[in-house]
Amino acid sequence: MFFSPKKSRYAAMTYNRCGKSGLKLPAISLGLWHNWGDVDVFENGRKMIRRAFDLGITHFDLANNYGPPYGSAEENFGRILRKDLYPYRDELTISTKAGWDMWPGPYGDFGSRKYLIASLDQSLIRLGLEYVDIFYHHRPDPETPLEETMGALDHIVRTGKALYVGISQYHPEQTRQAARILRKLGTPCLIHQPNYSLFDRWIEKELLGVLQDEGIGCIVFSPLAQGLLSDKYLKGIPSDSRAGKEHGYLSRDDITQQKMAMVASLNKLAQERNQSLAQMALAWVLSKPGVTSALIGASRVGHIEDAVSALENLEFTEGELKKIDLVLAS
Ligand SMILES: NC(=O)c1ccc[n+]([C@@H]2O[C@H](COP(=O)([O-])OP(=O)(O)OC[C@H]3O[C@@H](n4cnc5c(N)ncnc54)[C@H](OP(=O)(O)O)[C@@H]3O)[C@@H](O)[C@H]2O)c1
Repeated sequence: MFFSPKKSRYAAMTYNRCGKSGLKLPAISLGLWHNWGDVDVFENGRKMIRRAFDLGITHFDLANNYGPPYGSAEENFGRILRKDLYPYRDELTISTKAGWDMWPGPYGDFGSRKYLIASLDQSLIRLGLEYVDIFYHHRPDPETPLEETMGALDHIVRTGKALYVGISQYHPEQTRQAARILRKLGTPCLIHQPNYSLFDRWIEKELLGVLQDEGIGCIVFSPLAQGLLSDKYLKGIPSDSRAGKEHGYLSRDDITQQKMAMVASLNKLAQERNQSLAQMALAWVLSKPGVTSALIGASRVGHIEDAVSALENLEFTEGELKKIDLVLAS
């Protein structure tokens, strides 16, 4: 079926500048960690990407090992690009990463120059692209010198295989050091990708300040705590949910009574704002100064539509914020 995207696709989305760079990212970005692997239904993934693009989502986030099996999310996204989105390549910001385990032996994990450069070459083949827009080091490596890892990122930009580079899961001091090395090399660090949600607020303490000082953008992953911050688990664990599936990274043990009590209270607060809990959770992360984009996951088109509708109300009163904090402290 020929894809003809909606002419109105840029009307409903907000685009935020990524740090002090020239690049703008949509307030809602879509990640392909779950639901685009070979274990998933290809046409469902394709439908979600098409709907996302129609709603102004221009940024799609991947990693070498998304699937399962590893690599299959990139391959499937490559197929969707070829079928639907190649004519719109210049309207898309596509990212991928390396840093977690990808292939056996000493060269398929962590942060060596050997791993990062080989991994991106493999990703480009799977995606069917000549370059990605953003390439990330996926997590800090306690053993490889940071100069080597950042040197590999700089090399990747200079060889035209990525337009920008970023880091993920780096702590504040590691972030400062990485930014300093990259600046010296002449390839600024564009973006940091940390986890951030109502349930996990670690970046508020220091990281957000570091990113603002350094002029680095911030795209926050798992803003719905993998789906916990929705009404989905209030009545048990649906079999088609991430926690219900065998290959999902959310474990049944994460659905605790204490968390569900908080979710029930947050759900009521969201209803008072005329939002779903998922929408309130997204609005909350986006209301934090310094957050460029909320990087969501989805298993159906409706999730993407819900997320984009969250942008209709990003304001919180002092009273609402206090009530949310009280629930989270309970
Ligand atoms: N840098 C890193 O280390 C790292 C780590 C993790 C993720 N990421 C990136 O962040 C992206 C997002 O992560 P995530 O998938 O954990 O994000 P998330 O947005 O916290 O969770 C997405 C899941 O929440 C559920 N959901 C979404 N919208 C919903 C709605 N309106 N109502 C009810 N449930 C809803 C769906 O779960 P069901 O599938 O159960 O329906 C969906 O799969 C990833 O794809 C990846 O690109 C990066």
